[in-house]
Amino acid sequence: MIEEAPPPPVAELRDIHLQFEEKKVLAGVSLKVETLDRLVIMGQSGSGKSTILRLMLGILTPTKGSVFFKQFEISRLPRRKLQQIRARIGMVYQYSALLSSRNVRDNVALPLQELTDMSRNEIEAVVDEKLNLVGMVDAKQQMPSELSGGMKKRVSLARALVMDPELILFDEPSAGLDPVISSVIDELIISLTEKSKVTSVIVTHEMDSAFRIGTKMAMLYQGKIIEAGEPEQFRQSENPVVAQFLSGSTEGPILEGSKDAIETK
Ligand SMILES: Nc1ncnc2c1ncn2[C@@H]1O[C@H](COP(=O)(O)OP(=O)(O)OP(=O)(O)O)[C@@H](O)[C@H]1O
Ligand SMILES: [Mg+2]
Repeated sequence: MIEEAPPPPVAELRDIHLQFEEKKVLAGVSLKVETLDRLVIMGQSGSGKSTILRLMLGILTPTKGSVFFKQFEISRLPRRKLQQIRARIGMVYQYSALLSSRNVRDNVALPLQELTDMSRNEIEAVVDEKLNLVGMVDAKQQMPSELSGGMKKRVSLARALVMDPELILFDEPSAGLDPVISSVIDELIISLTEKSKVTSVIVTHEMDSAFRIGTKMAMLYQGKIIEAGEPEQFRQSENPVVAQFLSGSTEGPILEGSKDAIETK
């Protein structure tokens, strides 16, 4: 009998090196995102977390190594094919990134207008459905400037869901939100990803959020993933960097500015 090969991970980074001019940011990052994972990536400010999301979206190309979305090596795809792949990935940006001159409805409808040939009525139905999921359908006609930080975040979640993506990337979903609203957004991320059966990657340095949301975790430090696995593995980690990061202690190997300390050969 021939055994079927297991499905490829939804996203994978293989031995990624990335350098911006003189500055080495990633120095051999390997990471797999399996179906229905909510993978939390943790790391210091400036360690390269947003860079990893940009690589997964194909906005950045690695200096060395390969980035996969399912069976596609996105770092090698022609432009047109890459655009098709990108439409299957939703992105929630750190500060929501809504268009300030467009109302909520238009912001959410935009990907559908640009990337599909749906009719106006079909678009309206999808916009309502997604805004309903995030509890924002009554705010359809409002402008982003009229919304609180938490409401903007909800709208950007709806926009990321609108193409029914197979993967959603969240960059610091609780950035700039108070602790209560952060928890509400965390709960929303959990319920949406479960309801929509979508795989996700969440970048954060908020430990409470990380443990609330994550089904898997990875920690980026000095250009490498120094620990990856289940949340429980992180709680019990004997790696002093992981332990210090989790406790937020000033005592330990992590020093201010140590993110710049990747050795360059
Ligand atoms: N386009 C770019 N050109 C040059 N340097 C860049 C570029 N993008 C990022 N960097 C540098 O790469 C490093 C990693 O940036 P990145 O934004 O991925 O960090 P981060 O972990 O997301 O940080 P934060 O928690 O502050 O958002 C930083 O030192 C940043 O200055
Ligand atoms: Mg960032």
